[in-house]
Amino acid sequence: MTRNNIQIFDTTLRDGEQVPGCKLNTEQKLIIAKRLDLLGVDVIEAGFPISSPGDFHAVSEIAKVVKNAIVCALTRANKKDIEVAAQALKYAKYPRIHTGIGTSDSHIIHKFNSTREKVIARAIEAVSYAKTFVDDVEFYAEDAGRTDNAFLAKVCEAVIKSGATVLNIPDTTGYCLPNEYGDKIKYLVDNVKGIENVIISCHCHNDLGLATANAIAGIQNGARQVECTINGIGERAGNTALEEVVMILKQHPYLNLDTGINTKLLYDTSKLVQYHMGMIVQANKAIVGDNAFAHSSGIHQDGVIKNRETYEIINPADVGVNESSIILTARSGRAALAYRAKNVGYELTKIQLDMLYPEFLNYADKRKEVNDDDLHYLMNINNPLKSSVNF
Ligand code: KIV
Ligand code: ZN
Repeated sequence: MTRNNIQIFDTTLRDGEQVPGCKLNTEQKLIIAKRLDLLGVDVIEAGFPISSPGDFHAVSEIAKVVKNAIVCALTRANKKDIEVAAQALKYAKYPRIHTGIGTSDSHIIHKFNSTREKVIARAIEAVSYAKTFVDDVEFYAEDAGRTDNAFLAKVCEAVIKSGATVLNIPDTTGYCLPNEYGDKIKYLVDNVKGIENVIISCHCHNDLGLATANAIAGIQNGARQVECTINGIGERAGNTALEEVVMILKQHPYLNLDTGINTKLLYDTSKLVQYHMGMIVQANKAIVGDNAFAHSSGIHQDGVIKNRETYEIINPADVGVNESSIILTARSGRAALAYRAKNVGYELTKIQLDMLYPEFLNYADKRKEVNDDDLHYLMNINNPLKSSVNF
């Protein structure tokens, strides 16, 4: 059976770069854009060109160097934004304009002081105008997560008629539960005329920690593009993490869904973005955190040493991590101590291990972690058992 392709739309350089303190200069954006192209993303959202001359410049430079991915620029639903985005995308091999407007009653009433009818009219006008510059126009219905489904369907139908090629259904505030978000996508699939001719896109925020789960629910109900960022960075609590969605689909092959991502580059790409943005991910971050493949309790270490899959569902090599790590702490058992000692050159007999282990525990109790230098120290320098153990 042929597998369905899920398009990966990376917005690290737009939604991700909105994070306070994560601002990048053009040179840094180019480094990241080239890496994203190499990683195999389908779309790079390079920025919001009307927002500043610096962003305009960065988008146009990125448009010149990206070889494979679509380069996309964000706009609001007005002519000036769209003209400036089109200008910034002039040199892109595959340009896309991403335009849209808030569709929830909250946005319509409080942000625009407008009406549903006027918002539909603006959406149609924006998409039609963007189409005069590029073929590929993505429409976002901002705050779709809190938009009434029947009205959202009306907006979607209208912009499809105007030529939108992709429909972005953002859960802008990260409010939806996975079943609600999935049902919303299904409602659109079932009720919007012409939807079979466009790609539905998920853009989920992480305010309740559900961004990745919601994106997956969207895919399971018919969406075929996911908007995401490296390390899940983005406005407030962030966006769906690219590395999570990609590995979820890879580790669940029965879903029959593929991305074109070279997963072996995920870890290095994460580090590259951390370095340039100055935003370090937490150690327990899925896929790319320092502890994602680290085992520290004795029971787990013993299991992993016997067979990695006992406690690991991902082969670290698949995401570019050399190997699982066995961390020595006071919770470690003999198996872990023997394993790590062997890695630094000491092949211990059972008797030697039994003699060393109590000393190791005393030492480990005084430290957070026992490293390779500590192991040498324990076994050679100050070891009261040295003469009898005879290393
Ligand atoms: O979260 C959101 O709604 C957005 C749109 C501008 C696509 O980032
Ligand atoms: Zn967003």
